[in-house]
Amino acid sequence: MKKIAVIPGDGIGKEVVAEGCKLMDALGVSYQIFNYDADYWLQHKQGISDQQLEELRTFDAIYFGALGDPRLPKMEHGKDILLKMRFDLDLFANVRPIQLLDVNHSPLRPEIANNIDIVIVRENTEDLYRGLGGRFKAGQIDEVAIDERIHTRAGVRRIVEYAFEYAVKNNRQKVTLVDKHNAIPNGGQLWLSVFDEISKGYPNIVGEYQHVDVACAIMVAQPERFDVVVTSNLFGDILSDLGAGLVGGLGLLSSANVNGNGIGLFEPVHGSAPDIVGMERANPLAAFATLAMLFKHVGLLDECEQLLYAIKQSISQDITTPDLDGKHTTSQVGEYIISRML
Ligand SMILES: NC(=O)c1ccc[n+]([C@@H]2O[C@H](COP(=O)([O-])OP(=O)(O)OC[C@H]3O[C@@H](n4cnc5c(N)ncnc54)[C@H](O)[C@@H]3O)[C@@H](O)[C@H]2O)c1
Repeated sequence: MKKIAVIPGDGIGKEVVAEGCKLMDALGVSYQIFNYDADYWLQHKQGISDQQLEELRTFDAIYFGALGDPRLPKMEHGKDILLKMRFDLDLFANVRPIQLLDVNHSPLRPEIANNIDIVIVRENTEDLYRGLGGRFKAGQIDEVAIDERIHTRAGVRRIVEYAFEYAVKNNRQKVTLVDKHNAIPNGGQLWLSVFDEISKGYPNIVGEYQHVDVACAIMVAQPERFDVVVTSNLFGDILSDLGAGLVGGLGLLSSANVNGNGIGLFEPVHGSAPDIVGMERANPLAAFATLAMLFKHVGLLDECEQLLYAIKQSISQDITTPDLDGKHTTSQVGEYIISRML
Protein backbone atom coordinates (compact mmCIF):
# COMPACT_ATOMS: atom_id res chain seq x y z
CA MET A 1 0.00 0.00 0.00
CA LYS A 2 1.37 3.42 -0.97
CA LYS A 3 1.71 6.03 1.78
CA ILE A 4 -0.17 9.32 1.39
CA ALA A 5 0.42 12.42 3.56
CA VAL A 6 -2.16 15.22 3.67
CA ILE A 7 -1.27 18.85 4.45
CA PRO A 8 -4.51 20.90 4.21
CA GLY A 9 -2.81 24.29 4.80
CA ASP A 10 -4.76 27.52 5.30
CA GLY A 11 -8.07 29.08 4.26
CA ILE A 12 -9.95 27.21 1.57
CA GLY A 13 -7.02 24.79 1.36
CA LYS A 14 -8.51 23.12 4.44
CA GLU A 15 -12.03 23.19 2.97
CA VAL A 16 -11.26 21.66 -0.42
CA VAL A 17 -8.78 19.09 0.88
CA ALA A 18 -11.41 17.98 3.41
CA GLU A 19 -13.60 16.99 0.45
CA GLY A 20 -10.73 15.00 -1.09
CA CYS A 21 -10.19 13.26 2.26
CA LYS A 22 -13.88 12.30 2.45
CA LEU A 23 -13.48 10.68 -0.96
CA MET A 24 -10.38 8.77 0.17
CA ASP A 25 -12.32 7.62 3.26
CA ALA A 26 -15.15 6.40 1.04
CA LEU A 27 -12.71 4.53 -1.21
CA GLY A 28 -10.78 3.03 1.71
CA VAL A 29 -7.57 4.86 0.78
CA SER A 30 -5.61 5.58 3.96
CA TYR A 31 -3.66 8.76 4.64
CA GLN A 32 -2.02 10.67 7.47
CA ILE A 33 -2.73 14.37 8.16
CA PHE A 34 0.02 16.87 9.03
CA ASN A 35 -1.12 20.34 10.14
CA TYR A 36 1.74 22.46 8.84
CA ASP A 37 -0.04 25.76 8.33
CA ALA A 38 -0.17 29.38 9.52
CA ASP A 39 -1.34 28.38 13.03
CA TYR A 40 1.57 25.96 13.32
CA TRP A 41 4.06 28.57 12.10
CA LEU A 42 2.71 31.25 14.45
CA GLN A 43 2.90 28.85 17.39
CA HIS A 44 6.36 27.42 16.67
CA LYS A 45 7.89 30.26 14.61
CA GLN A 46 9.02 27.63 12.16
CA GLY A 47 7.57 25.52 9.39
CA ILE A 48 8.64 21.99 8.52
CA SER A 49 11.87 21.06 10.33
CA ASP A 50 14.57 18.95 8.69
CA GLN A 51 13.50 16.00 10.86
CA GLN A 52 9.83 16.40 9.88
CA LEU A 53 10.89 16.58 6.25
CA GLU A 54 12.70 13.24 6.67
CA GLU A 55 9.41 11.78 7.90
CA LEU A 56 7.57 13.19 4.86
CA ARG A 57 10.23 11.64 2.63
CA THR A 58 8.95 8.19 3.64
CA PHE A 59 5.63 8.91 1.89
CA ASP A 60 4.86 8.30 -1.78
CA ALA A 61 2.67 11.35 -2.21
CA ILE A 62 1.65 14.52 -0.39
CA TYR A 63 -1.84 15.97 -0.92
CA PHE A 64 -1.55 19.68 -0.23
CA GLY A 65 -4.21 22.43 -0.07
CA ALA A 66 -2.84 25.97 -0.09
CA LEU A 67 -1.08 28.41 2.19
CA GLY A 68 -1.91 32.05 2.82
CA ASP A 69 -3.13 33.77 5.98
CA PRO A 70 -3.81 37.47 6.61
CA ARG A 71 -1.79 37.22 9.87
CA LEU A 72 1.31 36.43 7.81
CA PRO A 73 1.11 38.99 5.00
CA LYS A 74 4.68 38.32 3.86
CA MET A 75 3.96 34.56 3.55
CA GLU A 76 6.84 33.80 5.94
CA HIS A 77 5.45 30.29 6.40
CA GLY A 78 5.27 29.72 2.63
CA LYS A 79 9.05 29.63 2.49
CA ASP A 80 9.29 27.27 5.46
CA ILE A 81 6.54 24.88 4.40
CA LEU A 82 5.66 24.80 0.71
CA LEU A 83 8.92 26.06 -0.79
CA LYS A 84 10.87 23.92 1.68
CA MET A 85 9.11 20.81 0.37
CA ARG A 86 9.51 21.81 -3.28
CA PHE A 87 13.20 22.71 -2.85
CA ASP A 88 14.43 20.18 -0.26
CA LEU A 89 12.56 17.23 -1.79
CA ASP A 90 13.99 18.49 -5.09
CA LEU A 91 10.59 18.40 -6.81
CA PHE A 92 11.91 20.22 -9.84
CA ALA A 93 9.00 19.67 -12.24
CA ASN A 94 5.69 21.44 -11.66
CA VAL A 95 3.22 19.90 -14.10
CA ARG A 96 0.05 21.90 -14.69
CA PRO A 97 -2.51 20.56 -17.19
CA ILE A 98 -4.80 23.17 -18.73
CA GLN A 99 -7.69 21.38 -20.34
CA LEU A 100 -11.11 22.63 -21.30
CA LEU A 101 -13.78 20.73 -19.38
CA ASP A 102 -16.82 22.68 -20.54
CA VAL A 103 -16.87 25.29 -23.28
CA ASN A 104 -19.50 27.32 -21.41
CA HIS A 105 -16.96 28.21 -18.74
CA SER A 106 -14.40 29.72 -21.09
CA PRO A 107 -14.43 33.44 -21.94
CA LEU A 108 -13.20 32.48 -25.44
CA ARG A 109 -15.37 31.77 -28.48
CA PRO A 110 -16.23 28.04 -28.60
CA GLU A 111 -14.28 27.40 -31.81
CA ILE A 112 -11.14 28.70 -30.09
CA ALA A 113 -11.80 27.37 -26.59
CA ASN A 114 -12.44 23.83 -27.80
CA ASN A 115 -8.77 23.57 -28.78
CA ILE A 116 -7.31 24.16 -25.33
CA ASP A 117 -5.27 21.16 -24.20
CA ILE A 118 -1.95 22.38 -22.86
CA VAL A 119 0.43 20.98 -20.26
CA ILE A 120 2.71 23.51 -18.64
CA VAL A 121 5.94 22.04 -17.27
CA ARG A 122 7.28 24.72 -14.96
CA GLU A 123 10.79 24.62 -13.47
CA ASN A 124 10.19 24.56 -9.75
CA THR A 125 13.46 25.04 -7.88
CA GLU A 126 15.33 27.99 -9.44
CA ASP A 127 14.71 31.44 -10.97
CA LEU A 128 13.43 34.36 -8.90
CA TYR A 129 11.84 32.10 -6.28
CA ARG A 130 15.19 31.19 -4.66
CA GLY A 131 15.01 34.47 -2.74
CA LEU A 132 18.45 35.71 -3.81
CA GLY A 133 18.89 39.46 -3.57
CA GLY A 134 18.31 42.11 -0.99
CA ARG A 135 16.64 45.33 -0.03
CA PHE A 136 18.86 48.24 0.96
CA LYS A 137 17.91 51.56 2.52
CA ALA A 138 14.35 50.24 2.91
CA GLY A 139 11.78 53.01 2.96
CA GLN A 140 14.27 55.72 2.01
CA ILE A 141 14.07 57.74 -1.18
CA ASP A 142 17.16 56.02 -2.59
CA GLU A 143 16.02 52.51 -1.68
CA VAL A 144 17.38 49.65 -3.79
CA ALA A 145 15.65 46.26 -4.13
CA ILE A 146 17.25 43.39 -6.02
CA ASP A 147 15.71 40.00 -6.86
CA GLU A 148 18.07 37.74 -8.74
CA ARG A 149 17.05 35.28 -11.42
CA ILE A 150 19.11 32.12 -11.18
CA HIS A 151 19.31 29.26 -13.69
CA THR A 152 21.80 26.39 -13.67
CA ARG A 153 22.68 24.27 -16.68
CA ALA A 154 21.87 21.12 -14.67
CA GLY A 155 18.54 22.58 -13.52
CA VAL A 156 17.52 23.65 -17.02
CA ARG A 157 18.68 20.36 -18.54
CA ARG A 158 16.61 18.18 -16.23
CA ILE A 159 13.38 20.16 -16.70
CA VAL A 160 13.73 20.27 -20.49
CA GLU A 161 14.45 16.52 -20.55
CA TYR A 162 11.42 15.98 -18.29
CA ALA A 163 9.21 17.94 -20.73
CA PHE A 164 10.34 15.91 -23.76
CA GLU A 165 9.96 12.62 -21.86
CA TYR A 166 6.50 13.75 -20.72
CA ALA A 167 5.60 14.44 -24.36
CA VAL A 168 6.74 10.96 -25.45
CA LYS A 169 4.94 9.13 -22.61
CA ASN A 170 1.70 11.07 -23.11
CA ASN A 171 1.54 11.00 -26.91
CA ARG A 172 2.12 14.71 -27.24
CA GLN A 173 3.50 16.12 -30.50
CA LYS A 174 5.23 19.34 -29.60
CA VAL A 175 7.31 20.95 -26.85
CA THR A 176 7.52 24.76 -26.81
CA LEU A 177 10.17 26.56 -24.80
CA VAL A 178 8.75 29.84 -23.47
CA ASP A 179 11.30 32.42 -22.31
CA LYS A 180 12.48 35.94 -23.12
CA HIS A 181 16.03 35.58 -24.44
CA ASN A 182 15.83 38.76 -26.51
CA ALA A 183 15.55 40.95 -23.42
CA ILE A 184 16.93 38.71 -20.65
CA PRO A 185 19.84 37.21 -22.58
CA ASN A 186 22.00 35.44 -20.00
CA GLY A 187 19.56 32.92 -18.64
CA GLY A 188 17.73 33.05 -21.97
CA GLN A 189 20.73 31.82 -23.96
CA LEU A 190 21.32 29.06 -21.42
CA TRP A 191 17.72 27.82 -21.76
CA LEU A 192 17.86 28.07 -25.54
CA SER A 193 21.15 26.21 -25.97
CA VAL A 194 20.06 23.37 -23.64
CA PHE A 195 16.66 23.17 -25.35
CA ASP A 196 18.21 23.01 -28.84
CA GLU A 197 20.62 20.29 -27.75
CA ILE A 198 17.98 18.12 -26.07
CA SER A 199 15.34 18.54 -28.78
CA LYS A 200 17.77 16.95 -31.29
CA GLY A 201 17.40 13.71 -29.33
CA TYR A 202 13.63 13.69 -29.94
CA PRO A 203 13.20 13.77 -33.75
CA ASN A 204 9.52 12.79 -33.49
CA ILE A 205 8.61 15.71 -31.23
CA VAL A 206 8.48 19.22 -32.68
CA GLY A 207 10.62 21.63 -30.64
CA GLU A 208 9.62 25.32 -30.83
CA TYR A 209 10.44 28.59 -29.11
CA GLN A 210 8.20 31.55 -28.16
CA HIS A 211 8.94 34.72 -26.21
CA VAL A 212 6.73 34.85 -23.12
CA ASP A 213 4.87 38.02 -24.11
CA VAL A 214 3.96 36.59 -27.51
CA ALA A 215 3.11 33.27 -25.83
CA CYS A 216 0.42 35.02 -23.74
CA ALA A 217 -1.21 36.40 -26.88
CA ILE A 218 -1.03 33.01 -28.62
CA MET A 219 -2.50 31.21 -25.62
CA VAL A 220 -5.59 33.40 -25.84
CA ALA A 221 -5.98 33.67 -29.62
CA GLN A 222 -4.62 30.34 -30.91
CA PRO A 223 -4.29 27.94 -27.97
CA GLU A 224 -4.06 24.97 -30.34
CA ARG A 225 -0.51 26.07 -31.13
CA PHE A 226 0.59 24.88 -27.69
CA ASP A 227 0.89 21.28 -26.57
CA VAL A 228 3.59 20.84 -23.91
CA VAL A 229 5.12 24.11 -22.73
CA VAL A 230 8.39 24.10 -20.79
CA THR A 231 9.37 27.27 -18.99
CA SER A 232 11.08 28.82 -15.99
CA ASN A 233 9.54 29.26 -12.55
CA LEU A 234 8.10 32.79 -12.84
CA PHE A 235 6.86 32.55 -16.41
CA GLY A 236 5.26 29.16 -15.63
CA ASP A 237 3.48 30.64 -12.62
CA ILE A 238 1.99 33.44 -14.70
CA LEU A 239 1.17 31.38 -17.79
CA SER A 240 -0.71 28.77 -15.78
CA ASP A 241 -2.99 31.36 -14.16
CA LEU A 242 -3.64 32.78 -17.62
CA GLY A 243 -4.52 29.24 -18.66
CA ALA A 244 -6.82 28.91 -15.64
CA GLY A 245 -8.69 32.01 -16.79
CA LEU A 246 -9.23 30.43 -20.20
CA VAL A 247 -10.80 27.21 -18.93
CA GLY A 248 -13.06 28.37 -16.12
CA GLY A 249 -10.87 29.81 -13.39
CA LEU A 250 -8.62 28.82 -10.54
CA GLY A 251 -11.24 26.54 -9.04
CA LEU A 252 -10.44 23.93 -11.69
CA LEU A 253 -6.67 23.73 -12.07
CA SER A 254 -4.51 21.01 -10.53
CA SER A 255 -0.77 20.52 -10.36
CA ALA A 256 1.89 17.96 -9.53
CA ASN A 257 5.35 18.70 -8.16
CA VAL A 258 7.51 15.73 -9.07
CA ASN A 259 11.04 14.71 -9.94
CA GLY A 260 10.43 11.53 -11.88
CA ASN A 261 11.64 9.15 -9.18
CA GLY A 262 9.74 8.96 -5.94
CA ILE A 263 7.66 11.26 -3.82
CA GLY A 264 5.29 13.77 -5.45
CA LEU A 265 3.54 16.81 -3.98
CA PHE A 266 0.08 17.43 -5.40
CA GLU A 267 -1.73 20.76 -4.98
CA PRO A 268 -4.42 22.83 -6.64
CA VAL A 269 -2.99 25.86 -8.48
CA HIS A 270 -5.14 28.26 -6.46
CA GLY A 271 -4.22 29.88 -3.14
CA SER A 272 -6.04 30.09 0.20
CA ALA A 273 -8.67 32.57 -1.13
CA PRO A 274 -9.24 34.54 2.12
CA ASP A 275 -12.08 36.43 0.42
CA ILE A 276 -14.33 33.35 0.43
CA VAL A 277 -13.03 31.30 3.34
CA GLY A 278 -15.73 29.87 5.62
CA MET A 279 -18.49 30.66 3.13
CA GLU A 280 -18.84 27.19 1.55
CA ARG A 281 -18.13 28.83 -1.81
CA ALA A 282 -14.76 27.23 -2.52
CA ASN A 283 -14.79 25.09 -5.63
CA PRO A 284 -13.40 21.68 -4.64
CA LEU A 285 -12.96 20.48 -8.24
CA ALA A 286 -9.33 21.66 -8.49
CA ALA A 287 -8.58 19.71 -5.32
CA PHE A 288 -10.38 16.66 -6.76
CA ALA A 289 -8.45 16.99 -10.06
CA THR A 290 -5.31 17.21 -7.94
CA LEU A 291 -6.31 14.04 -6.14
CA ALA A 292 -6.76 12.36 -9.53
CA MET A 293 -3.14 13.24 -10.38
CA LEU A 294 -2.07 11.83 -7.02
CA PHE A 295 -4.06 8.62 -7.60
CA LYS A 296 -2.24 8.14 -10.92
CA HIS A 297 1.11 8.71 -9.19
CA VAL A 298 0.42 6.01 -6.58
CA GLY A 299 -0.95 3.54 -9.13
CA LEU A 300 -4.70 3.94 -8.44
CA LEU A 301 -5.37 4.21 -12.16
CA ASP A 302 -9.06 3.23 -12.21
CA GLU A 303 -9.80 5.64 -9.38
CA CYS A 304 -7.98 8.38 -11.31
CA GLU A 305 -10.08 7.82 -14.44
CA GLN A 306 -13.35 7.59 -12.49
CA LEU A 307 -12.58 10.78 -10.61
CA LEU A 308 -11.77 12.72 -13.79
CA TYR A 309 -15.05 11.50 -15.26
CA ALA A 310 -16.99 12.49 -12.11
CA ILE A 311 -15.48 16.01 -12.30
CA LYS A 312 -16.69 16.36 -15.91
CA GLN A 313 -20.14 15.11 -14.89
CA SER A 314 -20.36 17.58 -12.04
CA ILE A 315 -19.72 20.42 -14.49
CA SER A 316 -22.04 19.15 -17.20
CA GLN A 317 -24.83 18.58 -14.61
CA ASP A 318 -24.27 22.07 -13.13
CA ILE A 319 -23.46 20.66 -9.70
CA THR A 320 -21.01 23.49 -9.17
CA THR A 321 -20.03 26.34 -6.85
CA PRO A 322 -20.71 30.06 -7.55
CA ASP A 323 -17.38 30.64 -9.37
CA LEU A 324 -18.83 28.42 -12.13
CA ASP A 325 -22.22 30.14 -11.83
CA GLY A 326 -23.51 27.18 -9.81
CA LYS A 327 -25.77 27.20 -6.75
CA HIS A 328 -24.08 24.44 -4.79
CA THR A 329 -21.83 24.55 -1.76
CA THR A 330 -18.35 23.11 -1.44
CA SER A 331 -19.61 20.08 0.47
CA GLN A 332 -22.56 19.50 -1.88
CA VAL A 333 -20.18 19.32 -4.84
CA GLY A 334 -17.99 16.98 -2.77
CA GLU A 335 -20.98 14.75 -1.95
CA TYR A 336 -21.90 14.58 -5.64
CA ILE A 337 -18.38 13.58 -6.67
CA ILE A 338 -18.27 10.87 -4.00
CA SER A 339 -21.70 9.58 -5.05
CA ARG A 340 -20.44 9.21 -8.66
CA MET A 341 -17.44 7.23 -7.47
CA LEU A 342 -19.21 4.57 -5.40
N1 LIG B 1 0.30 27.38 -3.66
C1 LIG B 1 -0.19 28.19 -2.72
O1 LIG B 1 -0.27 27.83 -1.56
C2 LIG B 1 -0.65 29.55 -3.11
C3 LIG B 1 -0.87 29.89 -4.46
C4 LIG B 1 -1.37 31.15 -4.76
C5 LIG B 1 -1.61 32.07 -3.74
N2 LIG B 1 -1.34 31.71 -2.45
C6 LIG B 1 -1.66 32.60 -1.32
O2 LIG B 1 -3.08 32.61 -1.15
C7 LIG B 1 -3.49 33.88 -0.64
C8 LIG B 1 -4.54 34.48 -1.56
O3 LIG B 1 -3.92 34.76 -2.81
P1 LIG B 1 -4.69 35.25 -4.10
O4 LIG B 1 -5.97 35.88 -3.68
O5 LIG B 1 -3.74 35.99 -4.94
O6 LIG B 1 -4.99 33.91 -4.93
P2 LIG B 1 -6.14 32.83 -4.73
O7 LIG B 1 -5.89 31.74 -5.70
O8 LIG B 1 -6.23 32.41 -3.30
O9 LIG B 1 -7.51 33.59 -5.10
C9 LIG B 1 -7.65 34.37 -6.29
C10 LIG B 1 -9.15 34.53 -6.58
O10 LIG B 1 -9.68 33.29 -7.06
C11 LIG B 1 -10.69 32.82 -6.21
N3 LIG B 1 -10.51 31.38 -6.01
C12 LIG B 1 -9.33 30.76 -5.85
N4 LIG B 1 -9.54 29.44 -5.68
C13 LIG B 1 -10.87 29.25 -5.73
C14 LIG B 1 -11.70 28.10 -5.60
N5 LIG B 1 -11.21 26.87 -5.37
N6 LIG B 1 -13.04 28.28 -5.68
C15 LIG B 1 -13.57 29.49 -5.91
N7 LIG B 1 -12.83 30.60 -6.05
C16 LIG B 1 -11.49 30.48 -5.95
C17 LIG B 1 -10.56 33.57 -4.88
O11 LIG B 1 -11.76 33.67 -4.20
C18 LIG B 1 -9.97 34.90 -5.35
O12 LIG B 1 -11.00 35.78 -5.71
C19 LIG B 1 -2.23 34.74 -0.54
O13 LIG B 1 -1.74 34.65 0.78
C20 LIG B 1 -1.27 34.06 -1.51
O14 LIG B 1 0.07 34.30 -1.20
C21 LIG B 1 -0.88 30.48 -2.12
